[in-house]
Amino acid sequence: MDEDEFRKQFMKRSVFKQASSLDQSYVPEKLHCRDEAIKTLIYNFRRITEESDQPSINILLIGKGGVGKTVTAKYFGRNFKSIALERDVNLFLEYYNCINFNSKSKIIRELLSKYTHGSGRGFSDDEAIKLILSQLIREKGYMLLIIDEVFRLKPEDILAFLDIAETFGHQNAKLSLIIISRTHDWMTVETERILSRLNQKIELKPYNYDEAKQILDYRSELALKENIINDDLLEMIAEIVSEHQNMRHGIEILRKSGLYCDKEGLEHFTPEIVREASNEVYPTFRGDVIDLLKDQELLALYGIVRALKNTDEPCTLVDEAYEEYQVICENYSIEPHVKMSFRKYVRHLDELKIITSKTVRIEEAQRGRHKEIGLLDIPAVKLSELLEGLFERKFLN
Ligand SMILES: Nc1ncnc2c1ncn2[C@@H]1O[C@H](COP(=O)(O)OP(=O)(O)OP(=O)(O)O)[C@@H](O)[C@H]1O
Ligand SMILES: [Mg+2]
Repeated sequence: MDEDEFRKQFMKRSVFKQASSLDQSYVPEKLHCRDEAIKTLIYNFRRITEESDQPSINILLIGKGGVGKTVTAKYFGRNFKSIALERDVNLFLEYYNCINFNSKSKIIRELLSKYTHGSGRGFSDDEAIKLILSQLIREKGYMLLIIDEVFRLKPEDILAFLDIAETFGHQNAKLSLIIISRTHDWMTVETERILSRLNQKIELKPYNYDEAKQILDYRSELALKENIINDDLLEMIAEIVSEHQNMRHGIEILRKSGLYCDKEGLEHFTPEIVREASNEVYPTFRGDVIDLLKDQELLALYGIVRALKNTDEPCTLVDEAYEEYQVICENYSIEPHVKMSFRKYVRHLDELKIITSKTVRIEEAQRGRHKEIGLLDIPAVKLSELLEGLFERKFLN
């Protein structure tokens, strides 16, 4: 491609009015079909703006993947913050996803450096919490802490967060929590003691067809120019969403179909485009998690994907993936890490359910055991394309 051609691609008309409104982190102005959950949150939390001793409240949001837990919590947080400010409560809103903050210490260190500008080194977690709480009191502030994918914390860490008011005194704890987890994951950490610290557990049910349609109408209006998608197609996507019980699927279809139209210079969506886009959404594959991976984990994943592409088998071995990983690192002029670290990245990718791995016994192998690695439901070729795009943005500038 030469420069003229390159420029021409930028001049093409786009079907998007606001493509960023389909990004994973986007929180829309209006939240349809979650009035019940939002009202429950309001009635639990509004006491903070009404009572002078400002209670500490712990809420759990659970439900299947893609039912709107994250967007509901963020929507509530944003609007609660403005109401609180109107009522002279200086509300600090903090959101952490335990995929990248996977321990109590990490979250607390981050909060400490943000609110007290200290590194927090040399302090225990409890001392650090005390510093944060005193800072809140000094600033006459109140913190709403949202902790997403909370099951990645150890149960004792979850308990410690929920117990802050008990441990440090209710009058000192100007802090409330919304913790979020998929129902299935939550079951792995739930204990009687944790349950007893919750003010309320809010369960979000998957959207039915009518709800999905309503949300898709709104989201497509935000994202797309007029007459790009017709009602029949929106109905078709709503059908897919309610069948898979996952709203993310619908948002991804809108995004992918739009990108496809732009690339091919088409002016509106067709049933074929939507069907094709739907086939390219892999519901158990967590694209949003990929965005949160560290560079070395991404490189390791790419190594695995390349090794899988080289073989006809559904699985590959750590050694083969490691070799590919070394080549990739070299290509991007990045120092490769040793195999032991590589194994650690593989384990982490497995924990995040991006790959699957199992240890199998074999007679000929040196130590009689080795690890087989595979992908869940996304084909290696597709994941490879996704990673290449990501690496171009990340490592080649
Ligand atoms: N009521 C709604 N209105 C508008 N968009 C919504 C609504 N519910 C969900 N969405 C959109 O659907 C997608 C999935 O929602 P979200 O990320 O909140 O799901 P989740 O329950 O947190 O899923 P997971 O367990 O996988 O993290 C997001 O793009 C979100 O913006
Ligand atoms: Mg979420």
